[in-house]
Amino acid sequence: MENESIIKNYDLIDDNIMDNTIRPETIEEYIGQTDVKENIKIFVEAAKMRNEPLDHVLLYGPPGLGKTTLAFIIAHELGTKIKTASGPSIEKSGDLAAILSTLEPGDVLFIDEIHRMPRYIEEILYPAMEDFSLDIIIGSEGNSRNIKIDLPPFTLVGATTRAGDLSSPLRDRFGIVSKLQYYTIEELSTIIKRTSRVLEMPISDEAALELAKRSRGTPRIANRLFKRVRDFAMVKKLAEIDLKTTDEALNRLKIDKMGLDSTDHELLLAIINKFNGGPVGIEALSSSIGEEVTTIEDVYEPFLLQAGLLKRTSRGRVVTDKAYEILGLSKNNKG
Ligand SMILES: Nc1ncnc2c1ncn2[C@@H]1O[C@H](COP(=O)(O)OP(=O)(O)OP(=O)(O)O)[C@@H](O)[C@H]1O
Ligand SMILES: [Mg+2]
Repeated sequence: MENESIIKNYDLIDDNIMDNTIRPETIEEYIGQTDVKENIKIFVEAAKMRNEPLDHVLLYGPPGLGKTTLAFIIAHELGTKIKTASGPSIEKSGDLAAILSTLEPGDVLFIDEIHRMPRYIEEILYPAMEDFSLDIIIGSEGNSRNIKIDLPPFTLVGATTRAGDLSSPLRDRFGIVSKLQYYTIEELSTIIKRTSRVLEMPISDEAALELAKRSRGTPRIANRLFKRVRDFAMVKKLAEIDLKTTDEALNRLKIDKMGLDSTDHELLLAIINKFNGGPVGIEALSSSIGEEVTTIEDVYEPFLLQAGLLKRTSRGRVVTDKAYEILGLSKNNKG
């Protein structure tokens, strides 16, 4: 048990190290998301011309599409520093005050998983966002007083996988709201080529394309799979990752031709076999495959919906004909 968690941690550390070396730093290096990028470029330029902080930015979309990366790029383009925090780690008003008090004029405050910030913290954040002032109560009950602290003008960049979970007063205080989209195969292939250059392990064009097709539209997955395929190629002493090795490695990792992994398969097969193709409620599905509701909703479902394998109806989730097709099943002959 202990060993297993150590291994998992190593893997995470490894991923983080890799994340930092291959994470693009400038907006020019950030591939895809053209609309979001173009808008941000203009707003950044205008803010700099006016010598004002950039309006607050909310970035939302499925995990691994580049929200954190973009937050750092925004600070880089503004030429300011960035301070980071995550929603669930801000528990007390003092936590928020401590973070805000470190800001210098024009800095970016990045709050990841902003939907998981406690409601009363949100309420302290509103005036901070609007008037750059902080109203907090200090002292204990019976002996408490209100204090008002002036803050330097700053830009809040919030990131979330669930924009719907944000309260509307909070959402309304972001001047710029951008939704990140799944990447095209061409974009992912460009990202893989870049990672290959940074990590100094060449990959053929056709292998990069194959990897891109099987990365669920997600740069983080593309980079992670690249790393795994690289392991296979290194053991085979290849000078360049080729198509054959890529295909073998991905098959071994149980990533299918569309990029679906074993959990995606399990999810679709559960709906087909246990719920007759649906509709099925998310709770029932969750207990049937042993994955948390939020994991299904945030991680698995968005891609399956976008790939046209799953549909959401008012009565629950339904698999599509295309899902039967890619699983090699007919509607009467289930898996
Ligand atoms: N547009 C891009 N161009 C190149 N690489 C990218 C791009 N977007 C993301 N990446 C790569 O994918 C990795 C994951 O991106 P990032 O951590 O920014 O995702 P995220 O949206 O913040 O995910 P989460 O919701 O899990 O926090 C980064 O380390 C980066 O290397
Ligand atoms: Mg992130």
